[in-house]
Amino acid sequence: MCGIVGYTGARPAAALVLEGLKRLEYRGYDSAGLAVVKDGRIEVFKAPGKIAVLEKELGTKLPSGTTALAHTRWATHGAPNAKNAHPHTDCGGTVALVHNGIIENAGALRAALTKRGHRFRSETDTEVLAHLIEELHAKGAPLVDAVVGALQDVEGAYGIAVLSSREPDTIVAARKGSPLLVAIGAGEHWVASDASAVLAHTRSVVYLDDEEIAVLRPHEYRILDRTAAEKEKTVTHVDWDLGTMERGGYAHFMLKEILEQPESLRNTLRGRLLEEEGTVRLGGLNITDEDLLKIQRIVITACGTSWHSALIGEYMMEELARVPTEVEYASEFRYRNPIVDERTLVIGISQSGETADTLAALREAKRRGARTLGLVNVVGSTIAREVDGGVYLHAGPEIGVASTKAFTSQIAALALLTLKMGRLRALSILQGREVVRALAKLPELVERVLATAPQVEQIAERLVRAQNVLYLGRGYNFPVALEGALKLKEISYVHAEGYPAAEMKHGPIALIDDLMPVVFIAPQDAVYQKVVSNVEEVKARGGRVIAILTEGDTGVARLADHKIEIPTTLDLLTPVLSALPLQLLAYYIAVRRGCNVDQPRNLAKSVTVE
Ligand code: AGP
Repeated sequence: MCGIVGYTGARPAAALVLEGLKRLEYRGYDSAGLAVVKDGRIEVFKAPGKIAVLEKELGTKLPSGTTALAHTRWATHGAPNAKNAHPHTDCGGTVALVHNGIIENAGALRAALTKRGHRFRSETDTEVLAHLIEELHAKGAPLVDAVVGALQDVEGAYGIAVLSSREPDTIVAARKGSPLLVAIGAGEHWVASDASAVLAHTRSVVYLDDEEIAVLRPHEYRILDRTAAEKEKTVTHVDWDLGTMERGGYAHFMLKEILEQPESLRNTLRGRLLEEEGTVRLGGLNITDEDLLKIQRIVITACGTSWHSALIGEYMMEELARVPTEVEYASEFRYRNPIVDERTLVIGISQSGETADTLAALREAKRRGARTLGLVNVVGSTIAREVDGGVYLHAGPEIGVASTKAFTSQIAALALLTLKMGRLRALSILQGREVVRALAKLPELVERVLATAPQVEQIAERLVRAQNVLYLGRGYNFPVALEGALKLKEISYVHAEGYPAAEMKHGPIALIDDLMPVVFIAPQDAVYQKVVSNVEEVKARGGRVIAILTEGDTGVARLADHKIEIPTTLDLLTPVLSALPLQLLAYYIAVRRGCNVDQPRNLAKSVTVE
């Protein structure tokens, strides 16, 4: 959601935190702000819109000072404007604070603070924290004690960083629910929402866990628990380099990440395929084969695109591993008194590893005795640190808000997990070898599909004025229909729906006319013939058909107005290939509609509030 960066050291802080903040802009981009401590005073600068607007207002002569905080916002409470942008200060301007999360009891705290004479300048939940800290700090409490004290009264989720004009080289940070890390430099320290903000300066980071507080000064950092007792923490070396976080000459991160999929898939599969044994090696599972055999039920939980890959995982697990598997929206699962126990394996899928609902669903499952696994892309993220074991995607940084390469890597990782479970149960070594060989061939097949991008671009040209689009698929490709529709919705703002093709007859077919483009995902898999009939039904009502079909197909090709061919592979892996043209289609339509593809309106890359 929001992005936070803080710096204390010897160098001019404003430029450093603004540079770091720009790497976090994918987290939220509706307003931004900066606070710098200088000569015993805090100067605060805020602007609506992207960081570039703030930079323009700051001009070339940035405020001087060697301690600063910066924030880019994704509004939850209070409209996105300069007044509600962070940092927020107390009545006297002694304390300045930035926050990522939601203070659930802000209303009550605000009323009590107002009664005690505090004057509020914004409509945000966050500002109550500045005034709560003020109450203790004004009575002489050191900043860290004032923060620890203030947080005792707070309910909700937060990642905060706080400055005081009375302690000019100190930053106090605290985390509960929203991600924060401390980065260690020579004679300087940073606080940030994620590592991308600091990689230009250091790779040594300490991830904060819930209820932890950090105190940063140029030459020291301390980690405390919620009672202010000192804690020892591990310093992690981040292996992503800055280059992989650049656009590298592409017009958009989304296009770069779509075209990176042969490589990201190779990274997901590297060192994990055991062709001879017809199985896989998953070093991070941290669950013995004996314990995996005791698993009687699998629940896969996630949000958004990750939920779509979970659906594909369900089909795989039931077909190849014969383990009863269900898929749950994390936001529903966490509150619906789920039936899970020690014989249940709960798998959480999350690119960012920070999605609040998925994190909470996994915590709830763990609380009820289930084994938990994470399929996560961001190394060191909260979900990755809290689950019992997992599979890292190794897809590399995904900056574009619309998830693309993470989706195909999630499907590949689910196939690896399915092979693991299946070979422990019903799957024969021959069947296992067949899946291993098909996985190994996948990156090359992806290259072939991506070569059809110019064709997809032409089809996008025809659809650019569409107001609604329907996506239809069956079996493994029903979730791909959902994903295609989501991609188009989130980056081009065109209304789109995905449906199991056979469901059409039960209602949506009423929408079909010559204005309604219908995208069919129709590879020659086990349900192909059924899909051909569904295409017939749409054509019979004058619908315009765009078909994703297998090279050399004739059955659907003769009915389609536009077609994109994909190579043959095993049914369970066709979604990796069929999703690619849909990612490109959404991309080209959004570009033609002049949308901000990498930072679509109202969205953020990782949703750290519920
Ligand atoms: C997908 O393009 C969206 N960005 C969104 O639906 C995303 O998949 C969802 O928020 C889950 O994110 P996660 O995988 O990081 O948990």
